[in-house]
Amino acid sequence: MEFLNTSLNIVRESGEMLIDGIKSSFNVDRKESKFDLVTEWDKKIESFITEKIQDAFPNHKIIGEESIYSEGSQSFEELLRSEPHLWVLDPIDGTNNYIHRLPGYTISLAMISYGEIKLGIIYNPDNDEMFCAEYGKGAFLNGERLHVSDRSVLAESMLATGFPADVDVDRKAVLNQINELGPLCRNIRVFGSAALHCAYVAAGRLEAYWEPGLNIWDIAAGALIVQEANGSVSEMDGSPFILDFKSFMCGNGVMDNVIIHHLNKVASKEMG
Ligand code: IPD
Ligand code: CA
Ligand code: CA
Ligand code: CA
Repeated sequence: MEFLNTSLNIVRESGEMLIDGIKSSFNVDRKESKFDLVTEWDKKIESFITEKIQDAFPNHKIIGEESIYSEGSQSFEELLRSEPHLWVLDPIDGTNNYIHRLPGYTISLAMISYGEIKLGIIYNPDNDEMFCAEYGKGAFLNGERLHVSDRSVLAESMLATGFPADVDVDRKAVLNQINELGPLCRNIRVFGSAALHCAYVAAGRLEAYWEPGLNIWDIAAGALIVQEANGSVSEMDGSPFILDFKSFMCGNGVMDNVIIHHLNKVASKEMG
C-alpha cells in the first residue's frame, strides 16, 4: 500500500506537469525513425518520476523508455527477472497524441518484482482518470473497483488496436487484421496509447485490444490492471504472456478466443 500511495501521488503530480506542458510550445526530436519521436516533456516527466521514486525508495531501481538504452551491459530481460523492486516507466504513452494536442496520452508506471508485475498505474491527466492495481487486490478507477465487460458476441464488441512505429512490417499486418475483424465487430478504435487501451479493457469500455511490436513499458501496468479486473492477457496467437513478449493481446476473457482465432487466420494467410 505504501508503494501504491507514494507512486499514485508522484504520477498525479506528473500529470499536472503534462497538462501545463501541452499548452506550451516544446521541442520534438526524432529517435529511431521519422515516426519515432520524443518531446522535451517525455524526458522531463521521466527525470521527475525517476528522482521521486529514487528519493522515496532508495533501494529500488527504475527504468524508463527514454533512458533504457543507457542501462549498462546487463540485458533488459535479466534486469526484469533479477530485481526485487524494478519500476518500469512510460513517461508519455501516446507521444504522437501529445505532439498533436490530441487527447489520449497517459503516464504508465509499473513495479516488477523478480519478473512478476506487482503494481500498475495508468493516468490520463486530460480527464483525471487514474487506473491502478496491485497484484491480488483488484483494479480500480479513481477508487472504484473495475471489472471487464461481459459481452460475448463479436458483433456487439468494441475492439482496439494500434499502429506501431515500424511502418513496413507492423502497420501492414495491423491493416490486414482490421480488414479481417472490422466487418465482424461493432467497431474498432485506435486511440494511440497502448496503456489507455488496456485501461479501457479493464473498465469494460472495450472488449479487447491487440497490437504487435510493443515494449514492456507500454503494457506492464496495463497487463496487471486488466488481469486484476478479471480480464485476460496473452500473445496475439493465444500463447501465454511473458515479459519478453512479441505481441500483446488483452480482453474480457470471453471474446479473446474468437479474436485470437481471426488473428491467427490472418497470420497464416500472411505466411502463405
Ligand atoms: C506508443 C503508443 C501507441 C502504440 C505504439 C507505442 P509511445 O507508445 O502506445 O499507441 O501504437 O506502438 O510505441 O511511443 O507513445 O510511448
Ligand atoms: Ca516512444
Ligand atoms: Ca509507449
Ligand atoms: Ca512513451
